[in-house]
Amino acid sequence: MKRQKKSKDKLTQAGAFLLDDNSPFAVKEAYKALRTNVTFSLPGSESKCIGFTSSERAEGKSTNAVNLGISFAQIGKRVILLDCDMRLPTVASKTGLQQNPGLSDLLVGEAAAKDVIRHYIDNMDVIPAGQIPPDPTGLLASDLMVKLLAKLKELYDYVLIDLPPVNTVTDASILSRYIDGFLLVVRHEAANYRDVTEMFRLLELSEAKILGFIYNDAPVESKKYYSHYYAYGK
Ligand SMILES: Nc1ncnc2c1ncn2[C@@H]1O[C@H](COP(=O)(O)OP(=O)(O)OP(=O)(O)O)[C@@H](O)[C@H]1O
Ligand SMILES: [Mg+2]
Repeated sequence: MKRQKKSKDKLTQAGAFLLDDNSPFAVKEAYKALRTNVTFSLPGSESKCIGFTSSERAEGKSTNAVNLGISFAQIGKRVILLDCDMRLPTVASKTGLQQNPGLSDLLVGEAAAKDVIRHYIDNMDVIPAGQIPPDPTGLLASDLMVKLLAKLKELYDYVLIDLPPVNTVTDASILSRYIDGFLLVVRHEAANYRDVTEMFRLLELSEAKILGFIYNDAPVESKKYYSHYYAYGK
């Protein structure tokens, strides 16, 4: 499987690199392993809120957020994925769902929850980002966002949050106190040591709980697999 050199169409195509019955065996196994590791990293029966971020753009946050959601949904867990990357949202296009109205519209009071929660697959719903707002950070820091997360935790087993990169904007850090654990996506041959160190520094400053990192697009024995998970001991 080639990375980044594929045609532009393929890059924006709904369903590209998403987990399904036709995914290669190794990919299915990688997501099962990720799911198991996340489950054991966050013990307890209460609902879990998991954030996906990275140091820079295009490392595979959204792809891995959707795929982990699919993986949990496949074993009967109730999942909702929120596209909180309101600057460059991609969850709607990846899942083939309508972008508007979405999270931004809900947070400014222009849409109701029932209008923004979209059914994606059995056991999995999505809230797309909605219209691109002038101040996404302000919306994420709002009381309404805190209330929304609390309500979603009552309704779903896993609330997955797709975020922008930490080194670019503060959105991930702002939500850190409501997120039970972060998965940090590091793409093979993309992020460098300095970027990753800076990401850790910024997340630790906001006292974020880091579950581990997903090494995305990793070459294994000359084949490109989607991802590997590494726990980050804390
Ligand atoms: N393991 C992979 N193998 C091949 N292509 C991949 C892989 N992971 C992601 N991609 C592709 O790379 C591009 C970026 O992935 P994705 O949108 O998931 O990254 P992102 O970190 O969410 O980006 P952004 O910072 O822009 O939100 C997409 O076109 C996606 O299909
Ligand atoms: Mg993304």
